[in-house]
Amino acid sequence: MKVIIIYQTNYGNNRIIGQYAASTLEAWGHEVDLHNVYDITPNEVKGADFYLFCSPTHMGKAPRKIRSFLKAFAKVQKEGKYATIVTGLPISPEKRDGRTEEMLDTILSETFMTDAGSLRINSLNIKGPLEEGWEKKVDAFLETVI
Ligand SMILES: Cc1cc2nc3c(=O)[nH]c(=O)nc-3n(C[C@H](O)[C@H](O)[C@H](O)COP(=O)(O)O)c2cc1C
Repeated sequence: MKVIIIYQTNYGNNRIIGQYAASTLEAWGHEVDLHNVYDITPNEVKGADFYLFCSPTHMGKAPRKIRSFLKAFAKVQKEGKYATIVTGLPISPEKRDGRTEEMLDTILSETFMTDAGSLRINSLNIKGPLEEGWEKKVDAFLETVI
C-alpha cells in the first residue's frame, strides 16, 4: 500500500512518532513517505491509499497549521483511508476532551476518506519525552488501522 505520513511538531515528538510508524510500516512491506506539514502542499501528497497524521495538542486543540493544511487537503483528496495519532500532556480521562482528534476528523469528514481510528500518546512534559512503551501502542494501533 502507498502510505503518506504527515506530522506537525515543535519539539520533535511527533516527528519521532512519524519516523517510527514509517519504519514499522516499511517493515510490513508498505511504501511510505514521511513529511513535515510545513514542507508540502496538499497537491504534492494526494493520491495515496493510506494517510497517517501526527499532531500535538496546542491549547486543547489541533494546531493551526495542520488544520489549515487538512482543510486544503480535503479539497484535493476524496478517497482512501486515514488515521490520526495525537500527543498531549497526561491529563485525567475525565478532563480529556479529545478535541484535537475531533477537529482533525471534522475537517476530513469533508472528504469520502474512511476514518480508520485515532490514538493518543502522552507527552510527559511540554517538550516530551513520550510516555514509556509508546512504540508498542503505535505498533498495536497500526495493526488495527492499516
Ligand atoms: C504551545 C503549546 C501548547 C500546548 N498545549 C497543550 C494542551 O492544551 N493540552 C495538552 O495536553 N498538551 C499541550 N501541549 C503539549 C504538547 O501537545 C505535547 O508536549 C506534544 O507531545 C509536543 O509535541 P511535539 O514535540 O511534536 O511538538 C502544548 C505544547 C505547546 C508547545
